[in-house]
Amino acid sequence: MKILAIESSCDETAAAVVEDGRTVLSSVIHSQIEEHRQYGGVVPEIASRRHCENIVAVTEAALAQAGTALEGLDAIGVTYTPGLIGALLVGVNFAKGLSLAAGKPLIPVHHIRGHIAATYLADPMLAPPFLCLVVSGGHSHIVEVLDYTRFRVVGRTRDDAAGEAFDKVARVMGMPYPGGVQIDAAAKRGNPTAHRLPTPRVEGSPYDFSFSGLKTAVINLVHNAQQKGELLGCDDVAASFQQTVCAMLVTRFFAAADALGYDQLVCAGGVCANSGLRALLEETAQQRGKQLQLPTLALCGDNAAMIAVQAFHEYRAGRVADLSLNAYATMGIDENLQDCHQL
Ligand code: KG4
Ligand code: ZN
Repeated sequence: MKILAIESSCDETAAAVVEDGRTVLSSVIHSQIEEHRQYGGVVPEIASRRHCENIVAVTEAALAQAGTALEGLDAIGVTYTPGLIGALLVGVNFAKGLSLAAGKPLIPVHHIRGHIAATYLADPMLAPPFLCLVVSGGHSHIVEVLDYTRFRVVGRTRDDAAGEAFDKVARVMGMPYPGGVQIDAAAKRGNPTAHRLPTPRVEGSPYDFSFSGLKTAVINLVHNAQQKGELLGCDDVAASFQQTVCAMLVTRFFAAADALGYDQLVCAGGVCANSGLRALLEETAQQRGKQLQLPTLALCGDNAAMIAVQAFHEYRAGRVADLSLNAYATMGIDENLQDCHQL
């Protein structure tokens, strides 16, 4: 079964064709980062406009690279939630048009479910159930993946998402947007024990995260040094911050795995590209005798191949939408669109 998927939830316009949820025939991404960088973050209005301008060319390239035309497809998948509403609407309406024109089923896909599905491409044998640490720019969750389309959130951030914390701390240190990858590079040169930073706990919720106190501690560190005219080594701050975030994520993730009895673990989302997090996850999994699967670096960030993979599983679960499909800025990973037809 060949599925073309469209992804436009944030600042990447992407299209991909994936066969049977496991074989990527094409994956095309047009990134808008260069343009948003000058504003220090994603400007929603600009994102929507660029999606409109680029979506046709990106989709045509994905079809050409896959060596197929619309007629050769079996279904159209699209990210319909969560994300920037104007950006999502471009993808949803474009996918509706394709579905109508080609007479192919339309499959709505939750973006975070897509991030998790990226890991099925890294390991063809991977199958639920497993426990997943989702760390992206907008979400930080510990999720039980009970089945390909059934999820239960067991831990979540109470404030910023992990990626958001990386980006805000990077900004305070004068690094360009998006800062996660800059912190990662600086941390490799720095000393992770140079600064002691707080690791807040959420009272009564052992698997929840909170990053805002940590972020404020770094901001204070930088501002105090600036006021005193002291030279603060950015590499050391980056390394200390990264190590603290990674320890917070990994400790809670493995505690949840032990408590819930999971031996198979997965990490997904843009922050899963972080070299410190990957190393700590791998080291801890080995020490604890757990199996760990990570998406390839290229598939950690936003792409449409992961959406096509999840679309395959949503289709098999009977979730197909009609042309009344809307986009939603927020929706829980464990929620399902009420107006999906059951096949
Ligand atoms: O999953 P993603 O591409 O988009 C969302 O769905 O939000 O995640 C983007 C986030 C950004 O905050 C970015 O700074 C972060 O992932 N990120 C990283 C790294 N690469 C991307 N954070 C830390 N280290 C990295 N190497
Ligand atoms: Zn994402």
